[in-house]
Amino acid sequence: MKTHVFDAVIIGAGGAGLMAALYASRGANVAVISKLYPTRSHTGAAQGGIGAALGNLEEDRWEWHAYDTVKGSDYLADQDAVDVLCQEAIEVVVELEHMGLPFDRLPNGRISQRRFGGHTNNETGKPVTRACHAADRTGHMILQTLYQQCIKNRVNFYDEFHVVDLIRVDDTIRGVVAYEIATGELHVFHSKAVAFATGGWGRCWEVTSNAHSLTGDGAAICLRNGVPMEDMEFFQFHPTGIFKLGILITEGVRGEGGVLINGQGERFMERYAPHIKDLASRDVVSRAIFMEVQAGRGINGQKYVHLDVRPETVNKYNELAGDPRRIDRAYIEAKLPDIADFTRTYLGIDPVEEPMPVQPTAHYAMGGIPTDVHGRVVLGSDNRVLDGLYAAGECACVSVHGANRLGTNSLVDLVVFGRRVGRHIVEYCEQAELLPLPTGTGEAVQAELSRIRDGSGNTKVADLRHRMQKTMTDNVGVFRTEETITQAIDDLKELRREYYSELHIDDKGHRYNTDLLEAWELGCLLELAEVTAIAALARKESRGGHARDDYPERDDVNWLKHSLCSREEDGSYSLDYKPVFIGRYEPKKRVY
Ligand code: FUM
Repeated sequence: MKTHVFDAVIIGAGGAGLMAALYASRGANVAVISKLYPTRSHTGAAQGGIGAALGNLEEDRWEWHAYDTVKGSDYLADQDAVDVLCQEAIEVVVELEHMGLPFDRLPNGRISQRRFGGHTNNETGKPVTRACHAADRTGHMILQTLYQQCIKNRVNFYDEFHVVDLIRVDDTIRGVVAYEIATGELHVFHSKAVAFATGGWGRCWEVTSNAHSLTGDGAAICLRNGVPMEDMEFFQFHPTGIFKLGILITEGVRGEGGVLINGQGERFMERYAPHIKDLASRDVVSRAIFMEVQAGRGINGQKYVHLDVRPETVNKYNELAGDPRRIDRAYIEAKLPDIADFTRTYLGIDPVEEPMPVQPTAHYAMGGIPTDVHGRVVLGSDNRVLDGLYAAGECACVSVHGANRLGTNSLVDLVVFGRRVGRHIVEYCEQAELLPLPTGTGEAVQAELSRIRDGSGNTKVADLRHRMQKTMTDNVGVFRTEETITQAIDDLKELRREYYSELHIDDKGHRYNTDLLEAWELGCLLELAEVTAIAALARKESRGGHARDDYPERDDVNWLKHSLCSREEDGSYSLDYKPVFIGRYEPKKRVY
């Protein structure tokens, strides 16, 4: 095995990884290891905007952003972390602009902002324009901007290296083991600090906005190395994925005035969220779509509704609401060019002429690797810091999103906490020592990869993956009950058994063996799916993205707490809980 030595290694080259690398590289010798070419990372799929209370079009305050975030989270977010998120959002957006990010502009030259779900003026309760955007390619532009800055700052990149293990000895971190995709060789990256920024695991579900690469590798590696997973029962379904395909149609469409219409031609969100309607938080809108479909009010009785941004529709509803905004084809082409492109390409639909068929799509993990506000991984119910290990972005749980993330806060989370991780890594590496590698480094994961490569069973990866996605969709989806979740746990146990005893892959080679890596990734997904289901079964209430038909009410007396799910040595899982940090906002019933 080749060995490389750095002060710190950052796993993942999306927004969080690049921001962490950029800041860490200012005072430490850093490498970024990514299984993709960096600019193919999933941050590029975030469309509608990054939230920051700049107040460029109307009054806004970071405290309003914080309240909306806490309310959207169904009061499960830690409010100290939310304050950090919303205060630092403002300076970090300006910093991105200074780095060259091409935000859309207002006529006065300031950054343009649009409405998004759950973003309100806290005094009037009306929608506020808070999402700073670069057309509908905001994440893509963040990725390009940060990558260029990292190159300028001479960050070392190991592209198409797939990290497969963490080197942890007791409570010390010594690096990671990575598989070089081009050669099949294992490499050891020996370091004082490791930061995971590997994104989510939407591929556990059938219909998802997540790329094929979103297989939860970092979270699963941490889980296997003694880090509990926090709040895994909360997975966000974005209301508007393209029907059957799951590809994201940004909430920015509704921010620009688009509305959801059922099979009876009704703007049904008027019933579910009379004040804010289509711009209610995502959990509320996804459940509303699901219920419309269940009641037979999908389009032509099918499992989808329409998202209508045709100028005549938007202008009609704006006029009814006394809103002076009017849109036309040119406006849609300028503000939502990718959406127009996607729907033409994938559906043969011009959104200026026809409504788009949409359904809820598995989108975002609110839970994940527990961290403090510096991105340091913390263990157990007393939040003990594991020195040298960091996480940021979707794989991490700070927790700023609680039970349901507000739209645009994923991009804020990446850059705010990515930056904090980078800064802390510099501080940590200045005083930490490079500890020796333990004997046998990499052997366990080498054995696991050989087991997968040499497996002589009859079960294919695609078959197991499909069965996992189906049970997660049917049983741990927008709504769940004790009965459905128990079914999922039974199914996942059987899938795990087959994964370890009956797996077969066709490619036995070493170069670009994507068969092998997909099988390894499936192992990560299966573990995270099981942890999700176990945490969901235990939580006997409904909160944010966790909607239990059998426990429809939120229960703050018993469940205002974060879950922690750990993997035991025998492969079983155990649950623990820790308190939520409540600051200025006492929990109350959410009304939209
Ligand atoms: O709807 C969107 O553009 C998605 C943004 C997000 O997940 O924050």
